[in-house]
Amino acid sequence: MRISMIGTGYVGLVSGTCFSEFGVTVTCIDKDAGKIERLNRGEIPIYEPGLDALVTSNAAAGRLSFATDLGPAVADSDAVFIAVGTPSRRGGGHADLSYVYAAAREIARAMNGYTVVVTKSTVPVGTGREVERIIREERPDADFDVVSNPEFLREGSAIQDFMRPDRVVIGAESERAQAVMRQLYRVLYLIETPIVFTTLESSEMIKYAANTFLATKITFINEVADLCEKVGADVHDVARGIGLDNRIGRKFLHAGPGYGGSCFPKDTLALVTTAKEVGSPLRIVETVVDINAKRKRAMAERIIDACDGSVVGKTVAILGLTFKPNTDDMRDSPSLDIVPALVEAGATVRAFDPEGMDEARKLLPDITYGADAYDVMTGADALVILTEWNEFRALNLDRVKEVLKAPVMVDLRNVYNPTDMVAAGFRYTSVGRPT
Ligand code: UGA
Repeated sequence: MRISMIGTGYVGLVSGTCFSEFGVTVTCIDKDAGKIERLNRGEIPIYEPGLDALVTSNAAAGRLSFATDLGPAVADSDAVFIAVGTPSRRGGGHADLSYVYAAAREIARAMNGYTVVVTKSTVPVGTGREVERIIREERPDADFDVVSNPEFLREGSAIQDFMRPDRVVIGAESERAQAVMRQLYRVLYLIETPIVFTTLESSEMIKYAANTFLATKITFINEVADLCEKVGADVHDVARGIGLDNRIGRKFLHAGPGYGGSCFPKDTLALVTTAKEVGSPLRIVETVVDINAKRKRAMAERIIDACDGSVVGKTVAILGLTFKPNTDDMRDSPSLDIVPALVEAGATVRAFDPEGMDEARKLLPDITYGADAYDVMTGADALVILTEWNEFRALNLDRVKEVLKAPVMVDLRNVYNPTDMVAAGFRYTSVGRPT
């Protein structure tokens, strides 16, 4: 089998590389010549554990290559995946599909023989049909099917998620297209992964419904955490106590500063907009979007409260800037709301993140960056854990207390145990747990 993967962003690069690991011959295509040149040299543009080794080994085995011109690769492909970006369009929650449609036209011109055109990017319901129409308009004689195959991988554990998914969703309506997709995912059949075959529309809807459900689950536990604080309950125990009910499930019940990243904020907004437009509003998701935005700002207040109500003239040390650990991605990270609010309130902010600082320097230019966790906290009036990188879970607490000006810790990821922290002499605040 041969495939082309158009777009070497997060989803495209990981999916293309993993398909090559499945034994498929893959060409990853991107218009950015500099990026392709770097990939050809084995330089990976994103931080994702395990990805560089897989790219190197599959490129060496001749199964994975990179190109700027889609023509020759598409002509040779059994399936062509569209994995280009779908950013939110300005002024509304809609996804911007111009890259998807431009790719569809180019693919139409280059296709040769029966080809399955697959949308891998997260695209609103109806996009697959439009891709179909565009290709037919461009090449009335073309022999093709359009398939929707959304991706459910998480940044930071993307390889594992692709290789061992809970399920694969394939919106493919013809036998011929289903057979090609079955062949591509052959390796997953061997490990008995459930494959859900459905229509284009249902497949596109599944992706949005999954992400908005998860965002709702997180928002639910975040609000329960706030309530726990008022009534003296511990959200950690509550999450465990409800999560052990299989109907609820334990995952995605960690209270924190609000969800961020490149998917949940964008996808919740896009679905809310679509739902309103078709006259079937998703009021739960509208509320989730609203609560999450307010929550990020409320976290700055929580930090200010921990500093006795004012941060004027004080130094706040921040550990973690990315939207979650094991990524260098800063998109819609809670830090982008929390840090400016602290600066506005008069704080001097010093921050450290293991992988996110290059990007953070561009987005948060008004703060200083340190060499490591202890460097930023030395002499600070308060320490804030904003992203739960492993190295922040294992701080030397004696040393932390020694270098901080005051032993104030605000742990927005509930990394430490409140009882231990108080016993160790910290003024410790976390999320939804009594101290
Ligand atoms: C998310 C989904 O989990 C993937 O299944 C999906 O494929 C992906 O979006 C996508 O649409 O491409 P990702 O954004 O990489 O993946 O990260 P998550 O691990 O889902 O975390 C998202 C946000 O929720 C983070 O800010 C994280 O800190 C927060 N979160 C997650 C919580 O606050 N609590 C939790 O219990 C879980």
